[in-house]
Amino acid sequence: MCASPAPLQLGPLSVWPPVVLAPMAGVTNVAYRTLCRRHGGGLYVSEMVGARALVERDPKSDLKAAFAPDEDPRSIQLYAIDPEDVRGAVELLVAEERVDHIDLNFGCPAPKVTRHGGGAVLPWRTALYAAIVDAAVRAAGDVPVTVKLRLGIDDDHLTYLEAGRVAADLGVAAVALHARTAEQRYGPPADWSHITQLVEAVDVPVLGNGDVWEAHDALRMVDETGCAGVVVGRGCLGRPWLFRDLQAAFDGRPVPAAPDLGEVVDLVAEHARLMVHWYGADVGLREMRKHTSWYLQGFPVGGALRRELNQVSSLDQLDALLASVDRAIPFDEGVRRNARGHTTPPKKVTLPQGWLDTREHDAPLPALAGTVVSGG
Ligand SMILES: Cc1cc2nc3c(=O)[nH]c(=O)nc-3n(C[C@H](O)[C@H](O)[C@H](O)COP(=O)(O)O)c2cc1C
Repeated sequence: MCASPAPLQLGPLSVWPPVVLAPMAGVTNVAYRTLCRRHGGGLYVSEMVGARALVERDPKSDLKAAFAPDEDPRSIQLYAIDPEDVRGAVELLVAEERVDHIDLNFGCPAPKVTRHGGGAVLPWRTALYAAIVDAAVRAAGDVPVTVKLRLGIDDDHLTYLEAGRVAADLGVAAVALHARTAEQRYGPPADWSHITQLVEAVDVPVLGNGDVWEAHDALRMVDETGCAGVVVGRGCLGRPWLFRDLQAAFDGRPVPAAPDLGEVVDLVAEHARLMVHWYGADVGLREMRKHTSWYLQGFPVGGALRRELNQVSSLDQLDALLASVDRAIPFDEGVRRNARGHTTPPKKVTLPQGWLDTREHDAPLPALAGTVVSGG
């Protein structure tokens, strides 16, 4: 196909390189985005924020919706099961000039929400899905809105082509597609041929998502599918320098060598400082643990150090432990494509009774479907 990459155009936003940090609950908070942004250009999406909670001014949601003073553009992902909630949240964000881009999450496969008709199974209910997207687009005015979809419920119930077309007709600026069904979770490789099909089906930019582990995967995805941009999830966990590599690759420059352990522990220290700055030592360092294990994946630092790092309660303690490593140890190329974050194998999707019998359900979804869970 040999598409030549161009800046990603989302309404008034022009994004170069055409790279998007995938919204990841519990990960893509303001601290992590700050670290990632330092490495390259792109659009860096917040972790998922519940629309209802935002309207209710829940302090935890406000913190999830926080941006660094120099963050530009400011991109938020909302999760909603009700048009009124999403309208309220978008109106509030726009009136207070808090964001430059809004993404809507229709990809969560967690049984906790799918069993009530929320998340990745919601687009099955065409009218409700359309009402949510429409409410967001209308309330957003000039702020571009995108939707993030999975392929559908399972191989026999694919919804992405219709959901993509509906969203495009309603005025979204782009459609992002995680090329797995809800049933597939994170098991099989993403099937990029569906990204190609969506590109052919809609007249808005398509953002391809699934299995971009290295910069060359992104170029290959653009080339093979014709997508307008790539959404990068697990590939950057513990590897924020992937955005430096992506910048180089899209600029046509050689991709720099992976950092050695010395550079990696410097990133751990920097990331931890950002976490403590935004969330305080208790929460910040506790939340940092999973990141530290991702950063150190493949480095032979020993179980004892890993355990101690898991228990640090201050930055001084962290610095002292990090100072003990051999900084010259090179990055282990063998772990480059190891899945991190989510590795859940396929599992039958839990659905409300009678869900697949019709797409015309008209009762509102129960509030439990709107529970914000970690996942997408
Ligand atoms: C820890 C974690 C949390 C996630 N949370 C969300 C989320 O809140 N919203 C969402 O749309 N997708 C979420 N996802 C899915 C990612 O955005 C992305 O679609 C998925 O990881 C596939 O891309 P990848 O193969 O590049 O990882 C999450 C993924 C991970 C690993």
